[in-house]
Amino acid sequence: MKKIWIIHNSLHGNSEKISKQLAEGLKDSYEISLDSIKNINPEELAKDEPYGLIIAVRIVAFSSDKEMLKFFNNLNNVITKSISKVAYFSTHALGWKKFFIRGMKKALEKVGCIEEVCPEYLEIRLQGAEGPAREGADEKITEFISTLKEFMK
Ligand SMILES: Cc1cc2nc3c(=O)[nH]c(=O)nc-3n(C[C@H](O)[C@H](O)[C@H](O)COP(=O)(O)O)c2cc1C
Repeated sequence: MKKIWIIHNSLHGNSEKISKQLAEGLKDSYEISLDSIKNINPEELAKDEPYGLIIAVRIVAFSSDKEMLKFFNNLNNVITKSISKVAYFSTHALGWKKFFIRGMKKALEKVGCIEEVCPEYLEIRLQGAEGPAREGADEKITEFISTLKEFMK
């Protein structure tokens, strides 16, 4: 089975919960590892040579989470084997703006060993900073699982 890593930097548990929902939806077809970037470092991830990577990006101060961006800058320095497929999703409390995710896109472009980034992403709006997710999130997550299955082939 191809290996996929799902990483998050969840503070209030929402992006972790969505990560677990995605893992649940993909586990029949892929070997999934899931963890917070508080627990794993870029070296460990690179050593595991995953086929795919799914990144949870919290929006903090109108931008992609700086700690996650730093993780990718560091990954760029240590990675040797290409990651074939990379996708991301975002959690946020305010109205969605495309520029929120710009930093993440740029960080991914800098990682030379990423072959393909999923053109579609999921964004889940929360009821305030601590969540929970607003109504309709589960349907969006289910749809994104189908998108990921197609993309990660
Ligand atoms: C310090 C701070 C700043 C935040 N700034 C924004 C923001 O600019 N825009 C937004 O939509 N959400 C903002 N949020 C809400 C976060 O996106 C939300 O707390 C996060 O996605 C929840 O994910 P988690 O439950 O996995 O920690 C902010 C939250 C915190 C704690």
